[in-house]
Amino acid sequence: MCGIVGHLGPSNSVDIVLEGLRRLEYRGYDSAGITFLNNDGQLETVKKTGKIENLAGELKNVNTESMASIGHTRWATHGGVTDLNSHPHSYGHLSMVHNGIIENADDLRDELIKNGFEFKSETDSEVFLILVYSLLEKLSLKEAILKAFKMVDGNSAFVFINEKSREIFAIKRAAPLVCGTHATNSQAVLSSDPYALIGAADRIYFPEDGVLCHLSASNKELISFYDLDGNPSSDYKSQSQEMEYDPSDKGDYEHYMLKEIYEQPGLMRSLCQFYFDGDGKKLLKEASELKPERFHISACGTAFYAGLLVRDYLEGINRIPCVYELGSEFRYRNPILKKGDVSLFISQSGETADTLASQGECKEKGVPTVSLVNVEGSSLFRGCDYNLLIRAGVEIGVASTKAFTQMALTGRLLSHALSPDYGDTDKEKILVDKFSLLAERVDDVLHRVDVIKKIAEEIYNKKGYFFTGRGQYYPVALEGALKLKEIAYVHAEGYAAGELKHGPIALIDEEMVNIAVVGPELKDKTISNIQEIKARKGIIVGIGPKDRSLEKISDFFIELNFDGLDELSPIYVNVVNQLLSYYMAKFKGTDIDKPRNLAKSVTVE
Ligand code: AGP
Repeated sequence: MCGIVGHLGPSNSVDIVLEGLRRLEYRGYDSAGITFLNNDGQLETVKKTGKIENLAGELKNVNTESMASIGHTRWATHGGVTDLNSHPHSYGHLSMVHNGIIENADDLRDELIKNGFEFKSETDSEVFLILVYSLLEKLSLKEAILKAFKMVDGNSAFVFINEKSREIFAIKRAAPLVCGTHATNSQAVLSSDPYALIGAADRIYFPEDGVLCHLSASNKELISFYDLDGNPSSDYKSQSQEMEYDPSDKGDYEHYMLKEIYEQPGLMRSLCQFYFDGDGKKLLKEASELKPERFHISACGTAFYAGLLVRDYLEGINRIPCVYELGSEFRYRNPILKKGDVSLFISQSGETADTLASQGECKEKGVPTVSLVNVEGSSLFRGCDYNLLIRAGVEIGVASTKAFTQMALTGRLLSHALSPDYGDTDKEKILVDKFSLLAERVDDVLHRVDVIKKIAEEIYNKKGYFFTGRGQYYPVALEGALKLKEIAYVHAEGYAAGELKHGPIALIDEEMVNIAVVGPELKDKTISNIQEIKARKGIIVGIGPKDRSLEKISDFFIELNFDGLDELSPIYVNVVNQLLSYYMAKFKGTDIDKPRNLAKSVTVE
């Protein structure tokens, strides 16, 4: 989704901001732009629809020497994908970028138009810029931003650059924002994603909502913070920057998604190491002290489907009841939150607005909050009382793969921490061995990828796809269908295998494919469900254990060995679904790592 980068310092600002924007590319966007303070002390803006390379191409035609600039990647919400709607927006001596949505933009715009102001774009963002400008007659820029901020509704981050003095202001409400400084390079930077600041900052600051960040060349500290009344504020967290940027990129892989699929066995193994022998011990101990009578699980997309597996662990192993709800629905359902409830949020980015909204609701109602999250220091991480890191490393592919696996496995570790087995070294060894067995089996699937590739080639051009599974395989049927939709742009749906006959079976004909996940549990019943599809000429891709009747009924068959995997089996099957989607998308020739219309981190509700 939209990305922000800003820089102020002695080195060439535009290069640094452009590099930051490139690192945010994986989040998804449809236009990009930069405003910089040029050698004549004037703000100059270059913005273009399409890829960042279009912007970089345009920038080659101008002298970009600069010591202050702001940049943006836009994922259109208000107004079409046009150069004019792209950010930064400028008015007078100000330029601004914005992430998020201003909910009362229409009313404010009408008022400003009545007062004689003219708008160039269709965006809600420009409303904030002109609102600030309109207040400058009586107020300083700092005061005007603070006043305007109090007048807008919705979740947003705003960044301003001022032509009159080398300074940048930033402020946010429930939207990601991080600032940083580099002591030796005397530069200050900011972004919506700490990933953009790696190398550019050695100390980073996470301001709380409503804290105004002021980056100024004339300030010895380079950054200062103010509260909503304009007084100095210490309402931010500061830490040294320890993330690493690995520009080795895709290595020998054609896409990040494929690389990330192949990283899974290694990550599975190191997760146990972290939680049983490493720094994670402390986190698991904290989790073991929770006394939940009931869990509320809330997440979005792939994280939600991983949450369904986590629910199966908590209910099946721990017998703790779970209520689960999509992040976007949670608080609007007026959830019943009681004493003894614990809320669990699952997220790769830790910045998903819908998940954060659910977390905010639980916090407000006094329910303890726990996260399974990938990005340490993200808004979710900072907002929760307890965090279990899923340790997936940086996930660049917009279609989430390794994060799903790590979320489910970390959920299994949470269930372990809450069980009587916690602290029993023999029982823990059994669990660690099970994780290793899973890694071995996934390795084996990765070695047999040619079978999956061949099937993908046979089915990628069919009319539609049903992923089906029962019991613990139902969540991976949902996730399989989501993956295929996202990257191959075909219609796919996930169904509980027993449910097709209650309606969707009307769609089955010789052009419809059923990717049927069959586990050792409920095998015969699931095979009967597949018979119903076969009888109506549907194409069957069977994924399951060695079984004569399953092989016979399948047009294509992928044999799996479930022995000893028990509750980890769905994660194993899911890797097959990931590869199937990947190769189908590859045969279709889509943009696998950056599928159309999608954003890696969805920061608007
Ligand atoms: C996954 O392939 C998707 N791109 C998407 O559904 C994602 O899982 C969802 O937006 C939640 O993201 P999060 O894990 O960063 O919260």
